[in-house]
Amino acid sequence: MPRPLKHVFVCVQRRAEGHPRGSCAQTGGDEVMNTFLGEIQQRALFEKIAVTNTGCLGPCGFGPSVLVYPEGVMYGKVTKADVPAIIEEHLLGDVPVERLRVPPDVWS
Ligand code: FES
Repeated sequence: MPRPLKHVFVCVQRRAEGHPRGSCAQTGGDEVMNTFLGEIQQRALFEKIAVTNTGCLGPCGFGPSVLVYPEGVMYGKVTKADVPAIIEEHLLGDVPVERLRVPPDVWS
């Protein structure tokens, strides 16, 4: 298995209704995950880009959260409409999508 150039983690954490932290499942994490998988398949990028669903990444208030390594770029409030931009600009073009980054103080 080739080592991927980028690894995308999509938060699909689920929490009970009314939980104070909410969850990315409630704000569309599954839809974002499925859109990534569909786009990666359509573009035949499986050998270059890995996509993994994950539990809570931390900034629940900015969900759905998406984390991209090796850069460690955290995106927030990602919608399925944002996925092509992340793929084209960041994953393939190596330029993070600034408008989708969480505020810098999320990671102190
Ligand atoms: S539930 Fe997704 S970042 Fe916490």
